[in-house]
Amino acid sequence: MPDKPEALGPNPRVDLYLELAGLVSGLLLVTFLWVHAFLNATVILGAPVFDGMARFLERYYLSPVGIGLGLLVGLIHVLSVARRIPTGYREQRSLWRVARKLRHADTYAWILQVITGLIILVLASTHIWVVLADWPLQAAKSAFRVQTNYLSFYIILLLVAEYHAGAGIYRQFVKWGWFRRRSVALAVGTAVALILTVNLGGLWAFHQLGVAR
Ligand code: HEM
Repeated sequence: MPDKPEALGPNPRVDLYLELAGLVSGLLLVTFLWVHAFLNATVILGAPVFDGMARFLERYYLSPVGIGLGLLVGLIHVLSVARRIPTGYREQRSLWRVARKLRHADTYAWILQVITGLIILVLASTHIWVVLADWPLQAAKSAFRVQTNYLSFYIILLLVAEYHAGAGIYRQFVKWGWFRRRSVALAVGTAVALILTVNLGGLWAFHQLGVAR
């Protein structure tokens, strides 16, 4: 029987399940980010529209269910991809050595994927904590945050999250070989540009909102 590739763990079937869990949870998180962006962007239509949307989500328990599911899927995503992260000094050193030798953009993209994932873990936890501590959602409260300390925080979180999501989707689709590299890059690039625009539009509207507090 041929030797098992070193990249696989002791049980290839478990590896496949973890791989699929990483893929599905990643796609669900991207869906969450899109829904989150469009819900936030309702503030472009005015504070009453945002507040009406927030009350609607609250009345039908969609907020707690959405947040709970988002946290659960986020946890599954972290657990299913964590085995790939080189934690030891020796592992990290040999990874850099291989990356420098290969000089391939996709290897650097993977390293950046790990780094941005860790940054998101810290920034998104802080963000969720800050928003939940000031519950319920209200346009005036969000605008107050954006206009005081949080604008640069949100811009950094936005860029890091969109890079991580875009590069993650690109890598997955290329890896499974479903579509041509070029078509995937074009589709992902267009989607990222669109979602950045929606998010920045929302941030801009929060920034411009008159706040009576
Ligand atoms: C799970 C519960 C979450 C809730 C309830 C939530 C809610 C909100 C709200 C209300 C705002 C407007 C500003 C503010 O109120 O401070 C906001 C902005 C933002 N959130 Fe979240 N968020 C959640 C999770 C996340 C996650 C997981 C990410 C990224 C990984 C994220 C990224 C952002 C970014 C980048 C902004 C600023 C851009 C924009 O307005 O769209 N959020 N979020």
